[in-house]
Order: sequence, then structure tokens, then C-alpha cells
Amino acid sequence: MNATGKISETRKLIDAARHEGLRVGFVPTMGALHAGHVSLIERARAENGFVVVSIFVNPTQFGANEDLSKYPRTFADDLEACMAAGADLVFHPDADEMYPPDATTTIHVAGVTEPMEGEHRPGHFDGVALVCAKLFNIVGACSAYFGEKDAQQVRVIERVVMDLDLPVEVVRCETVRDQDGLALSSRNRYLSGDERKRALSLSRALRSVESGVANGQRSASVLLDEARQLLDADAVDYFEIVDPTTLACVETVNGPVLVCGAIRIGATRLIDNITVGGRLT
Ligand code: PAF
Repeated sequence: MNATGKISETRKLIDAARHEGLRVGFVPTMGALHAGHVSLIERARAENGFVVVSIFVNPTQFGANEDLSKYPRTFADDLEACMAAGADLVFHPDADEMYPPDATTTIHVAGVTEPMEGEHRPGHFDGVALVCAKLFNIVGACSAYFGEKDAQQVRVIERVVMDLDLPVEVVRCETVRDQDGLALSSRNRYLSGDERKRALSLSRALRSVESGVANGQRSASVLLDEARQLLDADAVDYFEIVDPTTLACVETVNGPVLVCGAIRIGATRLIDNITVGGRLT
């Protein structure tokens, strides 16, 4: 496995792989890798001849009051995890390599960025869109693997790829959960034992919508009223049932919908979602 912080070296190694006829699979990450990331790398490994992982804690997607400086950085462990999962190349630029001081280009995606995370993290998706567009431009034609835990992020990235005609296939991968249902997240390590128990109320609330729909309830407001009562959080940023394509709230569950929530427990913010009412095609 190679590892480099340089864009030019990354391009050179990927060009050489492509020259050998290898398909490129790409897993963009911010490091602090857990079993969810490992499953993305393993899937990329199974489906491609050359696997690139990026590790970059992207400053443009953090708001002024967010946890950029405190975001976990576990580079040595991350490299080991990439190697064990079968990555061929780890691209780990520093902030100056990705954002030279004279850079002024930004990307704003309208529509799908606006509800939910967009309301609570203004500017967040502009930063995600910018870094992903740059990473895709560095890596070139590839299949890029993203976890569905960040369902809104995946929608935003799909939009960027379509709107900018990027030669990237976005591959959605199922959320990986602990046995008790907690979605894996780099931020879970901040939860105390008691906080972790309370965090489980998010997946429980999502599942209560699923059971309600399975029992024939179709009214979003009835389903949400019941589910929100289960949340044991210090703050609920949102808990909504939305259309999987537009991310607009629905009134009635007629077909597949996303149930999405974001809660705060102590200093930790957690998000999760599930699809109910049918499978996404
Ligand atoms: O999901 C993440 O880890 C980040 O938002 C991403 C896609 C790597 C962009 O920085």
C-alpha cells in the first residue's frame, strides 16, 4: 500500500493503475476509521482493481462552533485499517495542499442541502460538495463508496456528480450498526456509558416509525408524534420523514421514505436514518 499527501503523486499512482486496465474504487473519509469505513473499503476492494482511500479532516465543512479541532485524529491506526481492508493507496493531504491560501472557488448546491442538516449546520454541505468535487477531480473516473448513515450527504454528492458531469458512480452502502442498533460513527467514542444508552433512543425511535408503517399507519404526523416521544436527548435538532429524492417532508407514507433524525447528547451530536415503506430503487 502507498500513502502520500501530494495531489501530483496521487494522480500519478492512479494513472499508472488505470494504465494497467484497473478500475478505481474510492472511499473518501475524514479518518478516525471504524468498522463502517472498513466495510466501505472492503466493498471497494471486492468491486475494483485499485482502491484509493482519502483521509482528510475537511475544515470547510465545519462551522465556527463545531468540533474541527476536537475531531478525532487517529492516523497511524487508520493506515493500518486501510492496509488490512485492502486499500492500494491512501491520500492524506494537509489543508494547504487541498486549499492553497489564494483559492477562492466555492460550490453551493441548492435544494437538497436546505432541510435537516442544512438548517442546523449552515454551510456544511457547501464544504462537503467542494471537497468531494476536488477529491473526485484528483482521483478521476471511479466508483465512490459512501455510507447511508449520512443519507443527506449522499444525496448532495449525487447532485454534485450529476450537475458537474463528474465521471463518478456513487455507490450507497448500508449503515453499519453495533449489535444494539447504534449506527457506527467516529463521534460515538465521545459518549459516556450512560450517554451511549441514551443515544440508542435514536435508532429505537427510527424503528418505531418502521413498526408503525408495518402496522398500517400512513400518517407522518402520527408516526412522528409517537417516535419523538421515545427520544432521550438533551436536544433534538430534527426528526422527520422525508422523500428520499427531494428530502422534503412527506405527509403520508406511500412508498419508500427516509426517516432521519439528529440529536444531541451532552456535547455529542448524532445523526441516523432508515428507509421505510419499501426499498429504494
Ligand atoms: O463523510 C465524511 O467523512 C465526509 O463528509 C467526506 C465525505 C469524507 C467529505 O469530507
